[in-house]
Amino acid sequence: MQRFMITGGNRLSGTVKVSGSKNATLPIMAASLLLDGKCTIRGVPRLRDVAVMRELLIYLGASVVWEKDVMHIDTQGVGYQDVSEELMRRMRASNLVLGPLISRYKYARISYPGGCDIGSRPMNFHLKGLQTMGVSIKEKFGYITAEAKKLKGSEIYLDMPSVGATENLIMAAVLAKGTTVIRNAAREPEIVDLQNFLNCLGAQVKGAGTDTIKITGVNGLNGAEYTVIPDRIEAGTHMVAAAITRGDVLVTNVIPEHLEPVINKLREAGVYVEVKDDQVRVAMDKKPLAVDIKTMPYPGFPTDMQPQFMAFMTLAEGTSVISETIFENRYKHVMEFRRMGADIRLEGHTAVVRGVPGLSGACVEATDLRAGAALVLAAMAGENGTVLDQVEHIDRGYERLENKYNALGARIIRVHS
Ligand code: EPU
Repeated sequence: MQRFMITGGNRLSGTVKVSGSKNATLPIMAASLLLDGKCTIRGVPRLRDVAVMRELLIYLGASVVWEKDVMHIDTQGVGYQDVSEELMRRMRASNLVLGPLISRYKYARISYPGGCDIGSRPMNFHLKGLQTMGVSIKEKFGYITAEAKKLKGSEIYLDMPSVGATENLIMAAVLAKGTTVIRNAAREPEIVDLQNFLNCLGAQVKGAGTDTIKITGVNGLNGAEYTVIPDRIEAGTHMVAAAITRGDVLVTNVIPEHLEPVINKLREAGVYVEVKDDQVRVAMDKKPLAVDIKTMPYPGFPTDMQPQFMAFMTLAEGTSVISETIFENRYKHVMEFRRMGADIRLEGHTAVVRGVPGLSGACVEATDLRAGAALVLAAMAGENGTVLDQVEHIDRGYERLENKYNALGARIIRVHS
């Protein structure tokens, strides 16, 4: 187990560069399975989740060479399609191999990824969409077996714009016969990135970024090189880090358009935000105003920024109402914030956060990835020292977060125990 010892009270200042997007890299790596050949992905962040996806591709027979932020994948050796329970359990996003495997091999067997700390996270939309394309699905003993003679282009309507279901169905449709139309598709920038990667390989995908995506099946794909987009959630986390510590930070390698809901909410809270090309400067010198947040699918306020924004609101002037509409159980950080002196009341899917004058250090636990990042922010803004356990969760989605913040003036020590 690893922990952070965080000494609070320092303003962050300086420049921090955002790494490549985790949630764009994972589906792109999975999509490489559609190819019988080689591709190179640049801007790959050095994260635990990416390492798990690499292991999964190797398990399936691919060769994956990962040097710094460049990954070379050769899928010519892929042939084994049963995915072990151990790999599926380590990361929910392992389920993204289902679409490409069924598309390429007409057969796939994966263990059910199960629930996780933020909710039960079923796969019913993924499976229903595949069935519409002619795939037979059997669920038994925690395994999903998908089989088809051929995948046929179809009209699919998603009951809700699920990111993972949209990605899996796009990938399944790439090598299908005919045209697939996905309606009420998720519109996240990571889906646009997946479309762009697939089209570089020779796929025909149109409409990502809107709620209707059209995929015309092709017979095969070619190798290509691709650079993933910067991570909008990492960028948003740094922006809140600057604001909560009353600092002044230039966040570079960002696509500001992807951060509009976060930028708007920060401005509403009284934070100075200056946007220039691929950089955002965030400065704050006073107590924030309380603002309300409701998480929504993109382009709404991202659920992956809810815990970090809640950390910020614990120190606001007034009361903020935060509603989580995407995940059923994404409030585990509330208990941890309370240990630090926050005043938060939970009413179903709503958290009522009454701003307090200050947070104090405490022994807390990173219950999941974004909760962990939010606790780092709260601890940096708090008084005294905080011990944050289970920081392995943070390493799933942030590249050495402590190094980035220490370079801006924070005091965070990683301890291995
Ligand atoms: N859902 C269903 N049935 C399905 C699929 C989803 O009920 O078949 C529900 C989920 O249980 C959840 C909601 O729909 O309540 C949204 O789930 P979605 O499928 O959109 O999420 P995901 O694809 O599992 C991705 C990100 C998450 C991010 C969500 C929402 C990746 C690898 N993961 O998950 O990222 O929170 O979209 O934006 O892209 C994170 O990075 O910390 C993270 C959790």
